[in-house]
Amino acid sequence: MNTATSVPVACQQILPTRSINSLSEDVESGLLLEPRTMPPKYFYDERGSLLFDQICDAPEYYPTRTEAALLREIASEVIAAEKPECIVELGSGTSRKTRYLLDACTEQAWYPVYSPVDVCDEILVSSSESLQADYEWLDVRPLVGDYTAGLGNLPRHKGRNLVVFLGGTIGNFAESDARDFLAELRATMSPGDSLLIGADRVKQPDVLHAAYNDDAGITAAFNLNLLHVLNRELGADFDVESFEHYAHFNPLESRIEMHLISMCGQQVRLNALDQVIEFQEGDHILTEISRKFTRAQLERLLREAGFTIANHYESAGTKFSLVLAHPV
Ligand code: SAH
Ligand code: AVI
Repeated sequence: MNTATSVPVACQQILPTRSINSLSEDVESGLLLEPRTMPPKYFYDERGSLLFDQICDAPEYYPTRTEAALLREIASEVIAAEKPECIVELGSGTSRKTRYLLDACTEQAWYPVYSPVDVCDEILVSSSESLQADYEWLDVRPLVGDYTAGLGNLPRHKGRNLVVFLGGTIGNFAESDARDFLAELRATMSPGDSLLIGADRVKQPDVLHAAYNDDAGITAAFNLNLLHVLNRELGADFDVESFEHYAHFNPLESRIEMHLISMCGQQVRLNALDQVIEFQEGDHILTEISRKFTRAQLERLLREAGFTIANHYESAGTKFSLVLAHPV
């Protein structure tokens, strides 16, 4: 609860270490060709970030609650073991679960710098201001940027750095992208640094299906938000009402696949690109994958990226994993 007055916080831009596609280029290579896909980072304008935060409270969306409970249990042990001088969090969002780590720091009178990294400037500012107000000792240094544009410019603080990557967001990367991303992260780390990573586990398809098809329709609104972003950023004229959210578990790939399906034949104009997309009824855009891991798959992914497993924490019923890993 934010009881103190907020101090205005400014985000520093993280410079990319390699060139990545602009939104227009991602549309040209993803949306104008079949199968139509878009990278999930475009969900997260301010509205999308707030919708994601509402998903976290949806009764069907077990990952946030489950990971939060596990992190609460292990936070003291992790801080005591790693004694980080800096906590860097990738894809921090509202940083709501990170508070358990910060509470453990307060209890242990251990005061690291905290650098949240996110692509959404607005959510970084509001969460940083709220953390700054609630933890009087905290030095928050928010960084705005795309972590898929290279991690070479991540801040390097003197001493031990703890990199935190929560929410199961690693599941939003395809297998080889996840390995490359973690290997790139590993290359930025030094002996004494550590990684705390959360990942969702394989479970019964009906539980997974419900989590991505909540009754209140928040996940649907989150998915459809991509079309609002394209309308605003590219002067597109998507009729959002004529698309539907569709999410299903693909057991062969062990992942949720989230789509937007056109409910009718229609043409959509993208003014900024001077292009028209033709949709037949039933045509779809793949907007997100969310992989669900076995314990062995997750550990293998980390090992292949150059980490050793220090501790693999599992929630009750092995619904969710938090792995503490060190660079080899
Ligand atoms: N870690 C939080 C939020 C998870 S949602 C939690 O566990 O609840 C995923 C977060 O990653 C969002 O805040 C989103 O804005 C951010 N994100 C997604 N793609 C990103 C990218 N390519 N670069 C930086 N941040 C990204
Ligand atoms: C951020 N990420 C881990 C979420 C997930 O579960 O894959 C995003 C999300 N998509 C739909 N609901 C939540």
